[in-house]
Amino acid sequence: MIQVRPFRRDDRQAVRQICCDVADRGNPIEGIFPDREFAADLLTSYYTDFEPESTFIAEQDGRVIAYINGCLDNRRYGLAVIFLIIPRLILKGLVRGTFFRPECWQILKGSVRNWKRIFDWRKKSFHSHQGHLHIGVVKEARRHQAGHLMMERLLSYASEKGLASIAASVHEGNTEACRFFEQLGFEPKDRYLMMMADGHSLKEYHSIAYVKSIH
Ligand SMILES: CC(C)(COP(=O)(O)OP(=O)(O)OC[C@H]1O[C@@H](n2cnc3c(N)ncnc32)[C@H](O)[C@@H]1OP(=O)(O)O)[C@@H](O)C(=O)NCCC(=O)NCCS
Repeated sequence: MIQVRPFRRDDRQAVRQICCDVADRGNPIEGIFPDREFAADLLTSYYTDFEPESTFIAEQDGRVIAYINGCLDNRRYGLAVIFLIIPRLILKGLVRGTFFRPECWQILKGSVRNWKRIFDWRKKSFHSHQGHLHIGVVKEARRHQAGHLMMERLLSYASEKGLASIAASVHEGNTEACRFFEQLGFEPKDRYLMMMADGHSLKEYHSIAYVKSIH
């Protein structure tokens, strides 16, 4: 049976691992980025270290099989990422040699362009009551309602805290996730042009911003 509970400090490693195992449209991060440790910091450290009360975990037979990372304050998220997380990551990338790996150059080039776009769209919600979320379920446990159960828990928590709406960004080619959010009543509000590395070049794709109102 799947059980959903609040995040605990000792779940941190499991969240980092699942996140990196599913980050490329449900597949491991290595398909798009070679440094797992660096990616886990970038993708999960705000949620596990700065706002852990908005993360929920799904367990099956005592094993963590999924997480949902919530953020109820996009402005706080933006400030923490820009002033605390990114500077630490720049240092970490230099020390670990991440930035010097030739396979990272296209990715970094794409990321610089993406960050500007991400910043522009997050800025729109800086002073609103909109939050955002990320969700990941291990491959072998998918389609058994873990995603639905965690979402129910996050939405009820967010509603208690007075959040007006919550958003999730999904790669347009991630049809499983698109169906999942649509089934849960999220609406595709915007499409943003993004870049991702494709060997020695960059290719464009759209990120869909799914939004759900919370009553
Ligand atoms: C998207 C994701 C979170 C869904 O979690 P889940 O626990 O498998 O979802 P649930 O079992 O609660 O819900 C299943 C519903 O999701 C959609 N769905 C999930 N997997 C699907 C698949 N392989 N094909 C079609 N629809 C799928 C369907 O609407 C499905 O409903 P149905 O079974 O009635 O058709 C999971 O597939 C995942 O972790 N994907 C990788 C990470 C990711 O893409 N995250 C989203 C971006 S933040």
